[in-house]
Amino acid sequence: MKIALLAGDGIGPEIVAQAERVLHHFKQEGLKIELESGLLGGCAVDAAGEPFPESTRRLAIEADAILLGAVGGTQYDNLPREKRPEQGLLAIRKELNLFANLRPVVLYPQLANASTLKPEIVTGLDILIVRELTGDIYFGRPRGIEYRDGEKVGFNTMIYSESEIRRIAHVAFQAASRRNGRLCSVDKMNVLECTQLWRDVVTETAQLYPNVKLSHMLVDNAAMQLVRNPKQFDVVVTGNMFGDILSDEASMLTGSIGMLPSASLDDKNKGLYEPIHGSAPDIAGKGIANPLATILSAAMMLRYSFNEEEVAARIEHAVQKTLEEGYRTADIYEDGTKKIGTTEMGDRVLTNLQLQ
Ligand code: IPM
Ligand code: MG
Repeated sequence: MKIALLAGDGIGPEIVAQAERVLHHFKQEGLKIELESGLLGGCAVDAAGEPFPESTRRLAIEADAILLGAVGGTQYDNLPREKRPEQGLLAIRKELNLFANLRPVVLYPQLANASTLKPEIVTGLDILIVRELTGDIYFGRPRGIEYRDGEKVGFNTMIYSESEIRRIAHVAFQAASRRNGRLCSVDKMNVLECTQLWRDVVTETAQLYPNVKLSHMLVDNAAMQLVRNPKQFDVVVTGNMFGDILSDEASMLTGSIGMLPSASLDDKNKGLYEPIHGSAPDIAGKGIANPLATILSAAMMLRYSFNEEEVAARIEHAVQKTLEEGYRTADIYEDGTKKIGTTEMGDRVLTNLQLQ
């Protein structure tokens, strides 16, 4: 298992370090894990002048899976767009054809009170958001800012081909048939042709999955339903931009965006695994960031790219036990629990792994 570690910027190195310790633990237990670090994002701009340098591209292509921290920082805001850290992330997703982004939204029972929503709304929550990741307005052309009739206009193109929609629909239907058999496809077909096609193709694909109950929802309604009654959802499938927005919203149902892992897969289960949160420059270097989303991303990696279901489950149990013991980073802290920092959270998870 050749794993590329791309810690990135901000809190990235702190949280990836904790996931790395967890991977080391399994290496010592005998798993054949090889780790190699590379640069992506702002740190790559600083070191190599671009956010996704050739050396990182080669490392990523050779690796079986990639574990990523986060990219971005305010010091890069004024760089030309193609040099910004986020472009590195978009480029690696595109280069490796990682079109299927799986974002599980699971509430650990111990965190029911950490959510800003009432516990009865979120208790037992278990949703999977399937976000298309290499198309849509994120990559569509033409795009730009230019002068027209004496003033600047900014424009982007929302575009999806049938084949792009079909392949993500298959991923979502298959996920739904392994779960509770319900799939909700989110679009904005009342206004946007691109998403009319989305709805048509998803509906057509449904014929191949008679055991999955498909529903459709407009994105504005979906945003509302996610906070009104989130447990109505099993699997949600949507495009790149809507998925970006809805997954941040959904993360707060679980108490903190610091809890949510993700997997971005190609059609052969090669994957890039990352927490869904960003680089959090405001708390970078303070040792207080929550490493659990990254540790849980490593668990997803072992499950999806390496078929190590048992090891993945062990990591998830160790995280759950740590929460049960009352340990919390600042983002999920509440009265009566024990506030600890990033490294100590890593310590606690490791201890629980060793005790298994
Ligand atoms: C995410 C992030 C990225 C995205 C940014 C950093 C480019 O918000 O992974 O959700 O928009 O996809
Ligand atoms: Mg996002």
